[in-house]
Amino acid sequence: MVDNETNILYNENFPLSNKYDPEWIFDNSMGPNVLWLSEWLCRKVNLKTNMRVLDLGSGRAISSIFLAKEFGVKVWSYDLWVKPTENWKRIIEKGVGDMVFPIHGDARNMPFADGFFDAIICVDSYIYFGTDDLYLNYLQKFLSPGGIIGVVIPGLMKDFENGVPEHLKDFWGQDCWSWHTVDWWKKLWSRTGLVEIEVADTMPDGCEVYTQWKEAQDIVGKNPWPQDTAILKKDAGEYVGFIRLVAKKL
Ligand SMILES: C[S@@+](CC[C@H](N)C(=O)[O-])C[C@H]1O[C@@H](n2cnc3c(N)ncnc32)[C@H](O)[C@@H]1O
Repeated sequence: MVDNETNILYNENFPLSNKYDPEWIFDNSMGPNVLWLSEWLCRKVNLKTNMRVLDLGSGRAISSIFLAKEFGVKVWSYDLWVKPTENWKRIIEKGVGDMVFPIHGDARNMPFADGFFDAIICVDSYIYFGTDDLYLNYLQKFLSPGGIIGVVIPGLMKDFENGVPEHLKDFWGQDCWSWHTVDWWKKLWSRTGLVEIEVADTMPDGCEVYTQWKEAQDIVGKNPWPQDTAILKKDAGEYVGFIRLVAKKL
């Protein structure tokens, strides 16, 4: 059990995440704290015991372990960059080898049966493939009728008016061009008629949460992009934050 007093990642808004070892979260989150983002997402996704869940772009699989432990679901932990053998070790260490199944592959070419999943969860990964106009149609076929897709992504709270704002220039890599506003994402999905959007919102104080993560990484010496902390502080949520989308397959 992690002591709240000493937990450097303690955040009262994320009681489920507070239970997990901060070292484990630092070492296995590939972007902002993946447990915080997963917890925020799952508040709006009605996960029930034994549901079949695809954790798409699961990285080092700690969101998959979290979903299995907190909600009793079975999770197919699917990722391109991280080897499934590495993830399997983490899964076994946490005692959920009967609930989490690591699989390697590309989100655009998945080996699953149509209609197999009750829910698809995607945390901090959808920006790598989901901006393709045709992707939602591909993805939704793996869901059972009425199945849920839940996505959390970093995004823009408003569009840039004249190119990248000065204060974000050292933050904005080429792979940030797939960051968009919540309205952009809502339109991308709603116009297809494939899903009913249940939630399309932004995290209250999302940039502050992101900054807390970066400051904690700084303290433990595990911030891969140290310049980001001051940039996020300066931005203070003017542009940068987190977006949540939850939709039901029609
Ligand atoms: C920023 S990391 C986030 C990983 C994890 N969800 C987390 O938050 O720690 C992005 C993940 O997207 C995955 N990814 C990128 N492109 C992908 C693709 N085409 N198919 C499957 N996964 C992909 C990568 O393998 C990587 O693990």
